[in-house]
Amino acid sequence: MGTKSSNKYLQKASRAKFDDFYTQLADIERELSHYKDHFKDKIVFCNCDDPKISNFFHYFSYNFEFLGLKKLITTCYKNQQVDLFSQNNSEKAIYLEYTGDKNRNKVPDLYEIGIKHLKGDGDFRSKECIELLRQADIVVTNPPFSLFREYVAQLIDYDKKFVIIGSLNAITYKEIFKLIKDNKLWLGYGFKGGNAYFKTPHPKEFAEGVYNKETGLVKFRNVTWFTNLEIQKRHEDLIFYKTYKGNEKDYPKYDNYDAINIDKTKDIPADYAGTMGVPISFLEKYNPDQFEIIKFRKGDDDKDLAINGKYTYFRIIIKNKKINKQ
Ligand SMILES: C[S@@+](CC[C@H](N)C(=O)[O-])C[C@H]1O[C@@H](n2cnc3c(N)ncnc32)[C@H](O)[C@@H]1O
Repeated sequence: MGTKSSNKYLQKASRAKFDDFYTQLADIERELSHYKDHFKDKIVFCNCDDPKISNFFHYFSYNFEFLGLKKLITTCYKNQQVDLFSQNNSEKAIYLEYTGDKNRNKVPDLYEIGIKHLKGDGDFRSKECIELLRQADIVVTNPPFSLFREYVAQLIDYDKKFVIIGSLNAITYKEIFKLIKDNKLWLGYGFKGGNAYFKTPHPKEFAEGVYNKETGLVKFRNVTWFTNLEIQKRHEDLIFYKTYKGNEKDYPKYDNYDAINIDKTKDIPADYAGTMGVPISFLEKYNPDQFEIIKFRKGDDDKDLAINGKYTYFRIIIKNKKINKQ
């Protein structure tokens, strides 16, 4: 194999590695327990979900009545196997429509699930999948990470509500940060202890320690939930115990921006009215009634924020709105 083709293989493998892993039911239940009221009479669309393996389909079909859903639509990308739901073994994909438990046996039976064929491969960007998206009120899934920017841009373009999983790195993408700054996207509750475990069909792609042979799960520390649905935690004021006054030396100013640096969210001074640089993890606690997000990472010179000539880790510049009002 020449270098070019082996590179191609590696690229393909690395794309698959980050695009194919399956969310556990317990994680979906934990996150969605905070959103119950949003689902009443709504059409939910899971558009990156093979119903054979997707726990999103499982969760919404089994909780259809509990949530009071109107319809569940699930599209399956490149369904290639003969399986329970489909006789289709081509590149063509299927989609399912479920409108509830007709025979009241508390199980979504096969005959209650409408299986329909798509003309294409079920790509979320395809015309027919966009038609389904138009119908939907809320999109819930774990989309392919390699297409996250495009995936979110499409949801915003079609003005959809969503609860989706993505990498925390996405916060640093220009387009995604802008949405966060403009309060069009925020972080959900996240995975238990910040550890996200997924099933993978590509165990060999992962180093030992990341993939656990016993559980068959890969572990990620940098994955979370993103949403634009209102959630309680977004309206809870953070309470701080440290003050700037008397502790000035703990809060150095940047060389290239008029703000103080803060290494841990809990150390934000309760009495500081000016601009402050905080770590990205601040967004897990961000309450837009309490704080304003001003900018990301760069100083006035458009270079990374620095203290005494040394660049800091990524920082988000914020301001406490409540202090300014006094
Ligand atoms: C991270 S996996 C998650 C699967 C499932 N949503 C879950 O959480 O268990 C992403 C899925 O998106 C599918 N996918 C990849 N590219 C896609 C595309 N362009 N359109 C729709 N689905 C895609 C992959 O086949 C993969 O199953």
